Amino acid sequence: MIKTFAAAPMSLFGYGSRKELIPLLKREGVKKALVVTDKVLFEIGIVSKITEVLDEAQIAYTIYKDVTPNPTLDNVENGSARYKEENCDFIVAIGGGSANDCAKAINVLISNGGSIKDYQGGNKSKNKGKLLVAINTTAGTASEISRAYLISDEKEKRKLIFKDDYAMPSIAVNDIELMMGLPKSITAQTGMDALTHAIEGLVSKNNSVLTNILAIKAIELIYKYLPKAVEDLGNVEARDAMAYGQYIAGLSFGNAGLGLVHAMAHQIGATYNLPHGLCNAVLLPEIMEFNKNSCIKDYALIAESIKPIECINMTEKEKASYAVRLIKELSERVGTSQSLTDIGVKEEDIDILAEKSLQDGCIFTSPVMPTKEEIINILRRLM
Ligand SMILES: [Fe+2]
Repeated sequence: MIKTFAAAPMSLFGYGSRKELIPLLKREGVKKALVVTDKVLFEIGIVSKITEVLDEAQIAYTIYKDVTPNPTLDNVENGSARYKEENCDFIVAIGGGSANDCAKAINVLISNGGSIKDYQGGNKSKNKGKLLVAINTTAGTASEISRAYLISDEKEKRKLIFKDDYAMPSIAVNDIELMMGLPKSITAQTGMDALTHAIEGLVSKNNSVLTNILAIKAIELIYKYLPKAVEDLGNVEARDAMAYGQYIAGLSFGNAGLGLVHAMAHQIGATYNLPHGLCNAVLLPEIMEFNKNSCIKDYALIAESIKPIECINMTEKEKASYAVRLIKELSERVGTSQSLTDIGVKEEDIDILAEKSLQDGCIFTSPVMPTKEEIINILRRLM
């Protein structure tokens, strides 16, 4: 079967690696950046760590810092207007999925015109975007190396999904110095998001030899290092491993696709404005259980990779059940195991959440295509 594989053309890793942008940007000959970020990162000084690099490279910039946790259509419009008013010629995104997704949307809009809604779906833009430097400050969404982006339509309470080769960042930066100050809850939630990417990428209907190798390695790294990163926030080894783990998971799902966890998490996140990683973490073990009978081999492989000795003498089915249990225990250990009621989901919204989940683009690569009733049952069990 024919498969394609896409990734950002250049990536930087390691403590302090943002400084390597100086020669790269000088070589590109760019003059003025639109910096896309949020107020928190601006206030805690993360943005200044990047603008110092731009200063050193003698590149001008203007900062658009109004990106919301679930970036909106207005964020995209306003950021694009700023880009044009300020005569920028490239974009620097600083943040997790929110800033990076918003920057991709701005890039598509400034390069193609119209409304960003015109570009929903796959490869709808006609013109290649400008140079986009995507600096990741979490580990993570892996938005810095994916062609996909999500924008919230606040009126419709829905996340719009875009996947566009022309939205792929030009340079992805995973400088763990920028991640050291992440609080416990965000470290845990974004880490569980990355784990969900790897697991959904592994069992996706559109997986491949390459995406499976990446997914398994990502699961191994995240399972081992996420608790260390959460329990010891300044642990450089754990932060570094998580930066690679989420990146590798991103390469996997960015090419294989996702599944029901993300389809449902998108709708719950958009309806109640909740952190994406938390929604995934709450849903993941229950949906692994739902998919289990169709994913015995893959789940057995997960268990063998993270607990090889314990798996000796187990049957494939036992290993698969063990994998689900291990993931649930990991979520409990890092503090993301909660009920949907705990995070604010309301009983009266269950029907519409199920309806919208069925329309989410991520569902089409799910190993099991659920009915509306089955989604409602999953939601009820988690309330
Ligand atoms: Fe995600």
